[in-house]
Amino acid sequence: MTSGTSFRRVPYHLGIVMDGNGRWAQARGMPRLLGHRGGVNNIRPVLEASVGFGIKALTIYAFSTENWARPPAEVSGLMKLLSETIRRQLADLHANGVQIRHSGRMAGIEPGLQQQIRDALELTKNNQRIILNVAFNYGGRAEIVDAVRQIIQDGLKPDDVSEDVFARYLYTGGLPDPDLIIRTGGEYRLSNFLIWQAAYAEYYATPTFWPDFDKEELRRALQDFEDRDRRFGKVKTPS
Ligand code: FPP
Repeated sequence: MTSGTSFRRVPYHLGIVMDGNGRWAQARGMPRLLGHRGGVNNIRPVLEASVGFGIKALTIYAFSTENWARPPAEVSGLMKLLSETIRRQLADLHANGVQIRHSGRMAGIEPGLQQQIRDALELTKNNQRIILNVAFNYGGRAEIVDAVRQIIQDGLKPDDVSEDVFARYLYTGGLPDPDLIIRTGGEYRLSNFLIWQAAYAEYYATPTFWPDFDKEELRRALQDFEDRDRRFGKVKTPS
């Protein structure tokens, strides 16, 4: 992986909604699942490009709590793809200093795949080069409900709950909020992705389908980000 960047400022944490796999496949007369395979194949190059640009954490939206409503063959295909990807790529990701994290509900995921996920987290937990946070069986609303349940279970009192404390109860606890969210595939919505954490994220949408999103596209998104004026609800300090 290369290092160094030509940008004055890059996102510390980048989130990507990897949309458009199905349409990418359909445009080629292929079944949707081959689009997801194309999508998986694109994760590694984008991860490497992210390291090169100086990004420290990348969250990818791989499977949402709403995706269970897709046709059963597509759902089981996506489960198999994650399992296969862990099996094939884990050793190499580990050797390249990638720390894998998971954001999402474990319940509902098949036990064998749950174990593969736990093993991947355990193996890579001390790696520092980049965090690859995989949002799988993830929903922003489910995440908030799960946080509230845990807070009640832990017996916190109303006054104990601040925004910082609450954020630590989210699946992403310990990760800084995303600075930039990119959505491929041409839609302009968050689709329940990091809805708490993205409160002040910059947003970038491109019509490019995820399997075609490459380093040049990422560079364009980062250029756009660098030009944004992030005020976090304040007014700009005169220079
Ligand atoms: C949206 O494309 C994409 C998803 C449902 C999730 C993204 C999934 C991958 C990149 C592959 C799975 C990743 C792992 C790690 C298993 P879409 O199907 O909504 O595309 P469309 O909008 O063109 O139909």
